[in-house]
Amino acid sequence: MTTYPLSAPQLRNTFWHLLCHRSELPQPGDFLKLDWLDQEVVIFNDDGELVVFDNLCPHRGTRFFTDNTGNGAIACPYHGWSYRAGSLHIPCREQYAADDLRNARLNTLQTDWCADFLFASICPAMPLDAQLGDTFNLLGALSFNIDGLADVNAYTFECDWRIALENALEPLHVPFIHPDSLGQLNLGDGVNDFTAWTSVWQAPLGNIAMEKKLKGIKRLFQLEGQYPGYQSIYLFPFTMLSSTFGYSYSLQHFFPAESANRTHFSSRLLPGVTKNAAASTALAEFFRSTAAMNRQVFHEDHQICQRIVHGAADNERFGILSVREEKIAHFRRCLKLAGTLQQP
Ligand code: FES
Ligand SMILES: [Fe+2]
Repeated sequence: MTTYPLSAPQLRNTFWHLLCHRSELPQPGDFLKLDWLDQEVVIFNDDGELVVFDNLCPHRGTRFFTDNTGNGAIACPYHGWSYRAGSLHIPCREQYAADDLRNARLNTLQTDWCADFLFASICPAMPLDAQLGDTFNLLGALSFNIDGLADVNAYTFECDWRIALENALEPLHVPFIHPDSLGQLNLGDGVNDFTAWTSVWQAPLGNIAMEKKLKGIKRLFQLEGQYPGYQSIYLFPFTMLSSTFGYSYSLQHFFPAESANRTHFSSRLLPGVTKNAAASTALAEFFRSTAAMNRQVFHEDHQICQRIVHGAADNERFGILSVREEKIAHFRRCLKLAGTLQQP
């Protein structure tokens, strides 16, 4: 049995990670690239099937993709190896020893679906539904209310991933750090729900004028069963999904970087399903301003996270938590619980 704490690579390898929504990669050749630790993971639409792999050409380790998103082929510019329709294609195959080529393959990850959300794992300690618990159904239902990708915001946070994540898990800082952005919603205390590896916070808007304005655009969407307020779903270890009224979702990753005091942060804005093309046009400005607002909020979060002393995540001196920080307490319990899992 492994003892607490699991290292960042162990956490990455052992758990399932929500990487994307099906509608983000609708066309063959669409890809997304994410950084985690010292590697990159790519999700690629291979003739309609989403494959997840480690972005390294199996010949001599060239990175296939250098952009974060786009459309292209899995084709290595160095010596022309490529991958399509589930197979590796190697020019001048006869020049390689057949024995060597037997091991030549794309280094793919295991994948599984929660409705339209794609999860991947390197070596999962448990099935996906066991990891998600009751949150499986919540996620699955809301996945049908998402349509596409509207914004990608990715950069390095200059702090430990646990510091960035714990900040995302508590609303106590909102009036102080986000007075002109998220703070404007004037969120109520709300309710936290916990499973073993997930937590969900739902809070009503206290800003009545804003609430009225948001309710006014509901008719432009085609949504079912959305929470009419602010909802933030945490999936241990690295992922958050947050939304106001379900009109769009911010899918956030706080992947550890190789250096202990850096985090590969990214947030993608996933718009809700709209009624029709005219509604989409009418909502274009709303989605643009939501993307800009999210960028401001994450910038503000990064500014304060950078200010926290290195090592704080491992220092018990900084363990005093208020009731509004109980999702942090749950996260810390998850870290301990992860250390007791039988490693695959
Ligand atoms: S390193 Fe990719 S083809 Fe040689
Ligand atoms: Fe924040």
